[in-house]
Amino acid sequence: MNIAVLSSEKGTTLNALLHEEQKIAPASVVLVITTKPHASIIKKVAHFNKQAIVIDNNDYSTTHEFETMLQQTLSEHHIDIVVLAGFMTILSSDFVSQWKKRIINIHPSLLPLFPGLNAPQQAIQSGATVSGCTVHFVDHTIDQGPVLAQTTVPIKHNDTPASLHQRIQHEEKNLLIQCIKTLALGAL
Ligand code: GAR
Repeated sequence: MNIAVLSSEKGTTLNALLHEEQKIAPASVVLVITTKPHASIIKKVAHFNKQAIVIDNNDYSTTHEFETMLQQTLSEHHIDIVVLAGFMTILSSDFVSQWKKRIINIHPSLLPLFPGLNAPQQAIQSGATVSGCTVHFVDHTIDQGPVLAQTTVPIKHNDTPASLHQRIQHEEKNLLIQCIKTLALGAL
């Protein structure tokens, strides 16, 4: 089962996933796509002998053109499952409907709480004592598609958004491994 990971910039979670890629067998990451030509993720991926392709949305005048290129690239690499791991471009309903139940996203909160940007900051500001991460199917909504799995993480009284995010990201890798493996085994 061929996995493509779409990630915008640092690729912290993807990097951690690639370190333990054997755990997602029979799936494997065959392709990484980023929208940023200078994303630090590109070097990280090369370290694992994986291919990273830049599809910069600024090179396309419409979302349709950008997504046509994305779709073509995924088809050329015979991708079965698309994983969004820190992919900050919103995909259109048309695009995600072509990948129904075959595109998942990892988000740093216990959805449906705190969707969108700066989820760890939103959690701290809300006064919550627990947050976490969620893997969900991507649909036409933003971060509100059907949930596959969640992991909770405590919020400490002295947490900053960065310290909470770091603790959450530690769990993101494990949750993604579990969800990709489940999908790969057709167990959903
Ligand atoms: C990850 O924590 C991911 O959950 C989050 O962006 C981070 C990417 O970090 N995604 C979202 O917030 C999606 N709404 P990274 O580039 O260091 O892996």
